[in-house]
Amino acid sequence: MKNTVITFMEAKKKGIKQTMLTAYDYSTAKLIDEAGINAILVGDSLGNVMLGYEDTISVTMEDMIHHGAAVSRGAKNALVVIDMPFMSYQTSVYDAVTNAGRLMKEGRCQAVKLEGGKEVCPQIKAITDAGIPVMAHLGLTPQHINAFGGFKVQGKDEAAARKLIEDAKAVEEAGAFSVVLECVPAKLAEMVTKELNIPTVGIGAGAGCDGQVLVYQDLLGMFSDFTPKFVKRFAEVGEVMKEAFRKYDEEVKAGSYPAEEHTFAIKDEVLEKLY
Ligand code: KIV
Repeated sequence: MKNTVITFMEAKKKGIKQTMLTAYDYSTAKLIDEAGINAILVGDSLGNVMLGYEDTISVTMEDMIHHGAAVSRGAKNALVVIDMPFMSYQTSVYDAVTNAGRLMKEGRCQAVKLEGGKEVCPQIKAITDAGIPVMAHLGLTPQHINAFGGFKVQGKDEAAARKLIEDAKAVEEAGAFSVVLECVPAKLAEMVTKELNIPTVGIGAGAGCDGQVLVYQDLLGMFSDFTPKFVKRFAEVGEVMKEAFRKYDEEVKAGSYPAEEHTFAIKDEVLEKLY
């Protein structure tokens, strides 16, 4: 069954948890889709895990469209959401709608995600009014890394917790169909989830959210630059990959790969003519 923003929102009413994973390419999107995951996020985390940047600040619209379009080609049933990169929506409502439109037209996604609360509500309203569903993102918003002074849990004191609740209500009011809560205390995320009619998607926000999202390289043990506390490794694919790369290296150097069964034949009479 095709997942849409409507099925995503209806799941909250029915109490059915929704799953979301990041993907940045066609093959991975296909695997995630075939596993029955509800939604795929083409996150600007691609700056970290695919491009090797230390943060998401340098990610461009072109990066998001290039990777987003590949993911969209691989996702038959999953809802595809593409992140709006840094400075593609903060500058003006016009920029926000234009760039969200490009992500949908060229990246072929069904929704976009952007970071921020009250301050980006005019953008959320305008993008939504243009027929492009918006997923909001609150808590630890990596595009604000320089303002936060590092990757820190958000909403821990009363003022910050109140602000998070107000921002969550504001993005819902502005038209967001869902909101990601990243790195916020579990009980606060649960409270926000109960207050909202739209589904919350947690990452480092506990089990009280309506759904969960993870960066797939974290879940598979494929990224070792840093591992946040909330990550559970569901497999050690990084080790499996390294072992396979080592075996390939060994066999090529030993001359045992490629073997007869990996080669293409040519008729002797054709070969003889070449001498
Ligand atoms: O870019 C990303 O992968 C994200 C998730 C961490 C929610 O925004």
